[in-house]
Amino acid sequence: MISGHTQLAAVIGDPVRHSLSPAIHNAAFEATGLDWLYVALPVAAGSAPRALDAMRTLGISGLNVTMPHKDAIAAAVDVQTPAVAKLGACNCVFRHGDQLVGDNTDGDGFVTALRLESGADPAGMRVAVLGAGGAARAIIDALARHGAARIDIINRTAPRANAAALLSDIAVVGSSADLHHADLIVNATSVGMGDDGSSPVDPTVLCSEQIIADIVYNPFQTPLLSAAQAAGATTVGGLGMLVHQAAASFERFTGVTAPIEAMTTAATNALR
Ligand code: ATR
Repeated sequence: MISGHTQLAAVIGDPVRHSLSPAIHNAAFEATGLDWLYVALPVAAGSAPRALDAMRTLGISGLNVTMPHKDAIAAAVDVQTPAVAKLGACNCVFRHGDQLVGDNTDGDGFVTALRLESGADPAGMRVAVLGAGGAARAIIDALARHGAARIDIINRTAPRANAAALLSDIAVVGSSADLHHADLIVNATSVGMGDDGSSPVDPTVLCSEQIIADIVYNPFQTPLLSAAQAAGATTVGGLGMLVHQAAASFERFTGVTAPIEAMTTAATNALR
C-alpha cells in the first residue's frame, strides 16, 4: 500500500520508458517488505542539475541515472565516490545525511556477476575488453581494482581506446591479435543487441579455456555467447551485470541486503 510514509526512488534518463529498473527495484522492495516505490522519470538532456535539485527538494531517497545524464550528475553531486571521481560518470545517487553521494555501481556489478556465474576471480587475469564507452570504462576500472593483471582495450575508434587506457596502469590499447591470449573477453560494445545478429569477434579465436562475458542482455543469448558455447568456453550473460548494479544501488539507497533472486526473476520476466 502506498501511503504518506512511502519513500520514492527513481531512474532518470532520456529515453527511459524502456528501463527494466522499476520492475527490478519494485520487486526488491516487495521482497524485503520496504515501503518504497520506484518510478522512471524522463529528464531531457541539459536538465540533470535541476533533476538533482528536485531530488533534494522532494526528498527523493535514491536515484539511478542513465543516458545522457551520467556525466552531468557526476559533476553535480555533493560527494563523489572514488569510482565516480575516476570515471566522471555516475549511475547511482544516495543520501548520506544532508549530502547527495554519487556512486558508480556498473563496474562492481559486472565483477559480481562474473564471480557468481563463472566461479572465477578477475585477480591475475589477462583481459580483453571490447569497447571504450561508458560501460567499458566502468568495467575496466573495476577489473583493475579487483586485481586483473593486464587489460587490452580494443575499440573501433582509437582516441576513445587511448582515453580508456589512461584509467589504469595495467590497461593498454590492444588489437584483435590479443584475443587469443585473453583469459577473459568482455564485450562492452552494443554489437549483438536486439536484431543485430552479429558477433563483435571472429568466433574462430575463441577457445574452451576462456571466459566470454557479454554486457548485452537483450537478446539473452547473443551471437557472441552462442559462439563461445560452441567453442566450449565459460559464458557470462549481460543480465547479471544489470541485476547486480541494481542490487548495489538498492543497498546504497536502503541499507538493506538486496534480494538477488527476486531481482533476477523480475529482470527476466520484464525482458520477456
Ligand atoms: P555505453 O554507455 O553503453 O558504453 P557508449 O558510450 O555509446 O555506450 O559506447 C558504445 C561502445 O560500443 C563504444 O565503444 C562504441 O565504439 P566507438 O567508440 O568506436 O563508437 C562501440 N560500438 C557501438 N557500435 C559498434 C559497432 N557497430 N562496431 C564496433 N563497436 C561499436
